[in-house]
Amino acid sequence: MRVENPRYTERFGSVRINDVQSVLELDSGRAKEVPPEENIAALKVEEDVIKDYEEKMAIVIPTKDEKLKLFEGVISGVPHECLLIVVSNSQRKRVNRFQMEEDTLNQFCHFTRRQALIIHQKDPILAQALGEAGYDDLLDENGQVRNGKAEGMIAGMLMAMVAKKDYVGFIDADNYFPGAVWEYVKCYAAGLSMSESPYAMVRILWRYKPKLSLGMYFKKRGRVSEITNKCMNSLISVKTGFETEIIKTGNAGEHAMCLRLAKMLPYASGYAVEPQELVSIFEEFGGVLPMAHGKAAKHGVDVFQIETRNPHLHEEKGTQHLQEMLLPGLGTIYHSPLCEEETKQVILDELLQQYVIVPDEEPPKPRIYPPLKRVNLQKFSEIMEGYMGSYSAPGEK
Ligand code: GDD
Ligand code: MG
Repeated sequence: MRVENPRYTERFGSVRINDVQSVLELDSGRAKEVPPEENIAALKVEEDVIKDYEEKMAIVIPTKDEKLKLFEGVISGVPHECLLIVVSNSQRKRVNRFQMEEDTLNQFCHFTRRQALIIHQKDPILAQALGEAGYDDLLDENGQVRNGKAEGMIAGMLMAMVAKKDYVGFIDADNYFPGAVWEYVKCYAAGLSMSESPYAMVRILWRYKPKLSLGMYFKKRGRVSEITNKCMNSLISVKTGFETEIIKTGNAGEHAMCLRLAKMLPYASGYAVEPQELVSIFEEFGGVLPMAHGKAAKHGVDVFQIETRNPHLHEEKGTQHLQEMLLPGLGTIYHSPLCEEETKQVILDELLQQYVIVPDEEPPKPRIYPPLKRVNLQKFSEIMEGYMGSYSAPGEK
């Protein structure tokens, strides 16, 4: 793969936010000695390097009642070396959709000689393991894991830690193009390989997000993303005193991290998770608030934003769904201790304009889960190991 080198990097304390880097070639040919000057504008990331990262990476797929054909396509697009981890919140009553997902994954792993883990978010064993490992924050009043995409992602990250992976990437289960899924993971690996720090995050930006309205229209950005990016940039601009548009991936559902970084961040529930990740990075490493992680701050945190070649086509879930995503997302920025009055006003104006709040209403405070380093991983593994629906080809386990 050949990807543009970061042409511009903005710093917020010890966070290095790299401007968008485009994929130039999906396949950059055989490995060979490349003279350094050839790697100045664009970096050739060799296939073997990508595979080294994939081998150490778990891909977490959160899913809730998605079409089985889409799920099947998504898993087929995840490169072979990655460990697949599916966390499902699909229905089990009447039609047992979870069972169908399990069967599909099982068959896929059997024929492709792959390894995968799958668990239902509401499985009582998961709740027990979290409780006993000191992380009952994720549980509701009935002692079950709460609903939400973030909650599924958190369970997935813990499973990746149990599996002793170094990196975790996330892919939604409702993607229509397996080729796009494949490219996301290649970009995760390429981005992580560019990092100067062991604390890195790669966020995907789509070149196009096609909409079907009187023919296909290749739209560049969604409304929710535009607004989230604007508000996130306002937060940085007001704090630094220099206007910026550096953040282009405030909502990026498709993203990857070093687990070292993932362990340190507080997470917001549901769909607020992705904007909160950036807010958490700014809070913990931005140098404005007291730095909690001296050693990590010394290395700094690298944030990469990589623009893919494949368009992103996923399930359309309607306007109300978009509003349900915008409000908690902006809530993470609004309620950050870094957020000044000026940015709060930008957020309120946007929410009013989108009819998401009424005058004098504020976005609700997000539910924040503490960093995963608090989990007693030993205890969590003892309860979970040997229990998670696990598939692997004979002789590969
Ligand atoms: N495990 C689990 N539990 N998965 C869930 C849940 C849940 O409660 N709710 C949703 N999911 C899964 C969906 O099945 C899908 O695979 C993925 O999470 C994303 O949910 P969507 O409902 O498809 O979200 P979206 O497409 O509107 O938004 C996506 O893109 C945004 C912009 O990049 C999400 O990834 C957002 O988080 C992201 O901000
Ligand atoms: Mg979707």
